[in-house]
Amino acid sequence: IDELLTEGVAGRRVFVRADLNVPLDGTTITDDGRIRAVLPTVAKLAEAGARVVVASHLGRPKGAPDPAFSLAPAAARLGELLGADVAFATDTVGDSARAAVEGLTDGQVAVLENLRFNAGETSKDDAERGAFADRLAELADVYVGDGFGAVHRKHASVYDLPARLPHYAGYLIATEVGVLKKLTTDVKRPYAVVLGGAKVSDKLGVIDHLLEKADRILIGGGMVFTFLAAQGHEVGASLLQEDQIPVVKEYIERAKERGVEFVLPVDVLVAGEFPDMKTKAPAHPATVAADAIPAGQMGLDIGPESRKLYASKLTDTATVFWNGPMGVFEHPDYAEGTRAVAQALIDSPAFTVVGGGDSAAAVRILGFDENAFGHISTGGGASLEYLEGKTLPGLAALEG
Ligand code: 3PG
Repeated sequence: IDELLTEGVAGRRVFVRADLNVPLDGTTITDDGRIRAVLPTVAKLAEAGARVVVASHLGRPKGAPDPAFSLAPAAARLGELLGADVAFATDTVGDSARAAVEGLTDGQVAVLENLRFNAGETSKDDAERGAFADRLAELADVYVGDGFGAVHRKHASVYDLPARLPHYAGYLIATEVGVLKKLTTDVKRPYAVVLGGAKVSDKLGVIDHLLEKADRILIGGGMVFTFLAAQGHEVGASLLQEDQIPVVKEYIERAKERGVEFVLPVDVLVAGEFPDMKTKAPAHPATVAADAIPAGQMGLDIGPESRKLYASKLTDTATVFWNGPMGVFEHPDYAEGTRAVAQALIDSPAFTVVGGGDSAAAVRILGFDENAFGHISTGGGASLEYLEGKTLPGLAALEG
């Protein structure tokens, strides 16, 4: 946006597509990282006298207003962080939005209600998305894309709106792309990747790509059990994607051929049931060998030997990318695996990138200093798809 600032923005209505999709407990924001991440762009535009219209999605409402997904808490937090009054429109393209934008004076900021309260935002139909983008375009003179976490979505505010207005990339997108580009072009080796999260099916594309790029891939989270099953082990009542076993087998083979090391846990924490996430009552997990999970028991975190193993595999690296928690870290009995990986990244001399809403939130929720990491990405799916080498609609639109 430096080019835009040089042109001058005073008095112009600037639409900032942010990603304010923050985790909420009721109306309390449990991690405001994504709001802080867009501050430099919003503050700079406001300072330069723009009339700033901030818009975002939150969660996955069904194309209609739903108070559980209101952006009001995020708007209030943005105001606190900016140290300024921020107007909040209770709709996105209706009377309230128009009034909020008309009411802005130079240097003021308004936040629109959740874009996904309109079916046009996420529609697969180009005309329906386009019609919504037309209405958004009436609210602004210029578009600044800075919602990195949503650039992999072909949505009206991400993809269609920039085609209707002069468009620029904000500071967050520029930083994110700068860092991730390094991982895809001139990565320093050894390059280790830690992948966690529940479903292997969400990570297939990135694993496929990383088999060509990484030297070592450490697996954690619910995905572990599909890998263990692919090696012929019983996984009890653990999360298992049976239909993915053949493709995981193929990856294990390909990794061997290419000299890429797959690291799987040697032990896991198990219990007979999923912990109570509301009361967080003690879960009393047992530690068992990863190849001997008893029937009826489910794995919920990597075990103590695995923590040591994973830490040792991360210390002699030059670059580490980490996406996805190692276990159900929101419960204190299953947080140690994720904590150990975060600590290993901090202790490692490597350039470390934490990608993904969940792992970024985990780092902060577990109390780590985010400045101790090389870069914490605000994008989950977006950073993975970038690493896969896909064309991301929100980035392509800003280049066009
Ligand atoms: C995210 O949380 O990864 C982004 O905000 C995108 O959200 P979505 O997966 O609901 O599109």
